[in-house]
Amino acid sequence: MKSQITRALFDKVILPIYAPANFIPVKGKGSRVWDQNGEEYIDFAGGIAVNALGHCHPKLVQALQQQSEKLWHVSNVFTNEPALQLAQKLIDNTFANRVFFANSGAEANEAALKLARHYAIEKYSPYKTKIIAFYQAFHGRTFFTVSVGGQAKYSDGFGPKPADIIHIPFNDLNAVKAVMDDHTCAVILEPVQGEGGLTSATPEFLQGVRKLCNDYNALLIFDEVQCGMGRTGSLFTYQQYNVIPDILTSAKALGGGFPISAMLTTEEIASIMHPGVHGTTYGGNPLACAVGCAAFDIINTPEVLAGIQQRRAIFIEQLENINDKFKVFREYRGKGLLLGAELQPQFHNKARDFLNVAADFKVMILNAGPNVLRFTPSLIITEDEINEGMVRFTKAVEKVVNS
Ligand SMILES: Cc1ncc(COP(=O)(O)O)c(C=O)c1O
Repeated sequence: MKSQITRALFDKVILPIYAPANFIPVKGKGSRVWDQNGEEYIDFAGGIAVNALGHCHPKLVQALQQQSEKLWHVSNVFTNEPALQLAQKLIDNTFANRVFFANSGAEANEAALKLARHYAIEKYSPYKTKIIAFYQAFHGRTFFTVSVGGQAKYSDGFGPKPADIIHIPFNDLNAVKAVMDDHTCAVILEPVQGEGGLTSATPEFLQGVRKLCNDYNALLIFDEVQCGMGRTGSLFTYQQYNVIPDILTSAKALGGGFPISAMLTTEEIASIMHPGVHGTTYGGNPLACAVGCAAFDIINTPEVLAGIQQRRAIFIEQLENINDKFKVFREYRGKGLLLGAELQPQFHNKARDFLNVAADFKVMILNAGPNVLRFTPSLIITEDEINEGMVRFTKAVEKVVNS
């Protein structure tokens, strides 16, 4: 019997804030996805940098199944073993020694911003509340995080915003110098801006911002929701820059597709918090943390991390082949498998057309803004899958170019 659940139903029952593709995926394995009609797609989108180990990785399925028969939820009135195990793994492999678990990137950033404000107010002055953020940044959709994000199209239209947030151009150290002062409590940035078009921070910029934060007793927050957990070739991107933040947020790949996020910080900063200051019902949920532990153990291995640059090189080679024929890309951006291809000016504002036509040719890709195509596949996608997806993508590009 044909499914009664159709794409048309979406337009009737779901809040009209998304414009999903016209097929409904029902099954995934590795980097392949099947829709309701049994059509097979190659997945270069990875659930927007979430499915870091592809779909239904056997180790993640096993972890979820095993935990599902033990304990699902106890709230934070009690702690649980998977949460403590995952926190320990994060601490053992980063600068941090305290972890707060939540459920989404926005919540991790909300916690980071609240922590930075609270720390500055308690430790220095009630007036030390200024947050420096960057144009084109994206930090989530809660009202605080969307106000800190640097894109008016997401933050306007909801009435008065949280105050004392300043936006300046990314990678512009002089702009930071101009606004940094004793009232600044934090600078927040993505080491590689994700939604904003895959712009990587320059090393000089991150080093300079770190020094300014030190000089003015401001905290440096790295939002690694999209660029962390292996995506750019190291466990976290800050490790490639040798610039250590005071607070780091992680989500997306952290659960390999199971909703979970984390905010990491130091003992000294964490010491400002006490029971009741912040919290969440689901954060540190045993199911999410059990899957997170399994994902962490696979991603944080030399094989997986080293394979990321190899895969990027294959992607770029294939994109170059497409470009030789159709002259559509201007430059390649991002790091590792957070890969962007900026379109030539004559294709600006057409990124969405490319991804719609790509879906017709059975390959799932993303955009990052109107001018950049984004590829965030599984970190363990095979060479065959890349090649097959690129054959399909080439046909899609040909169609867009000739339309
Ligand atoms: C850098 C960054 N921060 C925060 C978020 C928000 O994460 P979530 O959608 O899980 O709330 C995103 C989502 O795309 C992101 O890319």
